[in-house]
This record gives sequence, structure tokens and C-alpha cells, in this order.
Amino acid sequence: MTVQRADFPPNFIFGTATSSYQIEGATREDGRQDSIWDTFCREPGRIRDGSSGDVACDHYHLWPDDLNLLSELGVNAYRFSVAWPRIQPTGSGPVNAAGLDFYDRLVDGLLTRGIRPYLTLYHWDLPQPLQDLGGWTSREVAHRFAEYAAHVAGRLGDRVASIATLNEPWCSSFLSYEIGEHAPGHRGDRRGALAAAHHLLLGHGQAMQAMRAQGVKADLGIVLNLTPAYPATDSPADRDAARRADGTANRWFLDPIYRAAYPEDLLADFAGDLPDIRDGDLDVIAAPLDFLGVNYYSRTYASADGQARPQGAGYTHMDWEVYPQGLTDLLVRLDREYGARNLLITENGAAYPDERGTGSVVHDPERVAYYQSHLGACAEAIRQGVDLRGYFAWSMLDNFEWSWGYSRRFGLFYVDYQTQERLWKDSGLWYRDLVRAPVAAD
Ligand code: NOJ
Repeated sequence: MTVQRADFPPNFIFGTATSSYQIEGATREDGRQDSIWDTFCREPGRIRDGSSGDVACDHYHLWPDDLNLLSELGVNAYRFSVAWPRIQPTGSGPVNAAGLDFYDRLVDGLLTRGIRPYLTLYHWDLPQPLQDLGGWTSREVAHRFAEYAAHVAGRLGDRVASIATLNEPWCSSFLSYEIGEHAPGHRGDRRGALAAAHHLLLGHGQAMQAMRAQGVKADLGIVLNLTPAYPATDSPADRDAARRADGTANRWFLDPIYRAAYPEDLLADFAGDLPDIRDGDLDVIAAPLDFLGVNYYSRTYASADGQARPQGAGYTHMDWEVYPQGLTDLLVRLDREYGARNLLITENGAAYPDERGTGSVVHDPERVAYYQSHLGACAEAIRQGVDLRGYFAWSMLDNFEWSWGYSRRFGLFYVDYQTQERLWKDSGLWYRDLVRAPVAAD
């Protein structure tokens, strides 16, 4: 069955999302200095196409046109992130006014167009001087983050609908220190990954405290990338692989936030590499959330050898399995096991190798199908009683896909990087028709 507007409550939030380093460009303007991604992109071999976010979608200059496109798309919300190195170029000290002014104009531009701003404080562009102190492996960076949060919330917290502290702390810890695919690109450093994860969570909790103390009106929460794990077979070894995958990706973040405790089985697995977890840290981390943002793309199909592939599955250009059922399962689990309320899908979407043809619209039938099935999965979770309030398509624009550079396209709009033109894709038109459909009067 095709998904329809009527499958969602009348006040449902339909938005789309981006992040600062992936779209803004202008990395040396108005006082911005290097983030860890500027540094990382300069290291040979880190980015598959050798590119960087120096220009990206040039959104720093083209933002008024981009906001007009959001109006045409008909979304009632837009998720973006603030670049810390624009606000505090060295990661501490006074605010760089020109940097904060940019987001002030952006927020007002959204409000003028009737679009609710959903702000993320940290989408991976850590000021390089803080990496020189050890980055997230250093406890000091958590305190710096809370100060930065207070600066941004003090200026914008009365106008944005929500503030998320972190985007996907799993990426800033395990993917950055153990797998080495993201800045700063350390490989095999489990100790570093666990220290970073703990200080990210602590920074989240301290930022929540600082913003609550300011009386910020916006909803406050965090965005996690959650990847349900299913064992490939019923064998004890595959089931244990699924337990570990679920533990690292999901429970290592959800349990401290919702239960003020790290999971026992993982504490045993990680023994010897654990960070300095001080008395009181978990209470800070477990500060109540106004919302939980969930980024969902695929599942893990877990096997002891790490090689199993499900039969007959479809895959995106990232080689991620298309598995909408995982999204329903995940949402129901968050509701039943964690009592999570006010859930938002803060990212969901797919990369496919789009090509600009001769017409004015780019055809991306696989992405349309992906959105249909995943929005259907959201509707099913709502039918099962999950308190899901909104959905943000990743992404508004094709953009800098981290270590994949510009070789992977996730946008509802196609970006021609030679000319900076934006073209509609069929998926954008499809999403527009869904979100603009009249809401049934009840
Ligand atoms: C999650 C990240 O938040 C976003 O920056 C990235 O582009 C998408 N996943 C796709 O990989």
C-alpha cells in the first residue's frame, strides 16, 4: 500500500535535513577557522575523491535561494547544524559575532517562510585546537561543549523549535577512533573510542544542564544513529555477534541516557579499555530529554565471520541494505524497552548514482521507493502506538558525504557542483506531493 498524508497525524512534522560542513563551504570566511574535517580532508587518502567541504554546496552564500526551495518543497521544518568553528574558532573564549549572525539570519529566514528550525549543535566539525588537546578523548572538551551550547542557545533558543546537542555520537567515537573512517581517523584505538563516547555523552549532559539553567524555550534532546542487529542464523555465535553489534551501536548510548548505566555485558566485553567514568557522570548523562532524534538507514545482519549477506535484498549506493522493517522494529523497541516519547526521525534516506540528464528533473525511482517504504514503516510504528512526531528526509541537497566526498548523492535536490544549480529530483517532487496533501478535517 502506498503511504499517504492521512497515515500521519494532522500536526506531524515533515522536514528535511542537512549539516554545516556538508553544505556550507566558505570555510575561511567571517572568522571561521579549521575544524577536524578541514584537517582530515588535507590528509592524502582520507577522502575517496580527494575533495573537501571548502566549497560544498556554497550554501553559506546561497542560503536565501535554498530556503526558497524549502518553501517550494512545502516542508514545515528544517534541520541544520551550527558550525562550532564559526562560533568559537579556537573552541573556547568569546563568541565570533559574524559566525553567530549567519545562523541568526538563517533562523529568521526560516521563520519568515513558516518553517520551524531544528538546530543541531554538533555535527562533527570540532574546532581543530580542541583536537590538539585530545579531542573528545579529553574530558575538558565536554566542558568546552557545554559553554559553546550556552552561547548558541542564549542567542537562538527562543526562536528554534528544538536543539539537539550531538549528532550520532557513535560516529564521533567508534567510527573516528576504532574504525578510522572519520576525523581524526585513528584506527584500532578502542580505548580512545570508549573515552570519546563517554565524553561525548558527558558533554551532551552538561550542555543539557547549561541550557536548562538558561531557561531555553526550545525542546532539548540528542540525535542517535541506531542500527538494529539481526542474527544471520540462530547459531550461538551469530546471536552473540548480533548482541555485540546491538550493544556497541545502540545500547552503549541508549542505556546511559535512559537508564543511567552502561550495559553490563558490554562493560565485561570492554574491560581493560574502559575510560575514567566518575561518580555522578551517569546522572548528568541521564538528564531527561524533551525528544529523541533517531537516524535510521539500514540494519546489521550479524554473523560470527562478519560476511553474511541476506538473500534477495536491495542495496543503496552506500552498499547499505534496504530494510524498512528495521525502522518499525526499532521504533517499537524504543517505545517498549526504553519508554521513549516524543520521537523524531531526524534522518532517513538513500544514496543512488543519480545522473543529470537533458531535462530539468533528475529521475531517481529507487529513492522514491526507499522513501515510500520507510515512511510506510513510520506509519506502521504510529499504528502500533509509538509516539513518533516527525520525519526529516536526509538530505535536502546532494552534499559532501564525508569520506565518500561528492561521489555519493543523498539529496531530494540534485546539485550540479560545476554551476551550483539545484535541480528537482522525482523524490523531491514525490515528497512535496506527500507533505502538501491536504490534512483531512476531523
Ligand atoms: C548520517 C550523518 O548524520 C550524515 O551527516 C550523513 O550524510 C548521513 N548519515 C548519510 O551517510
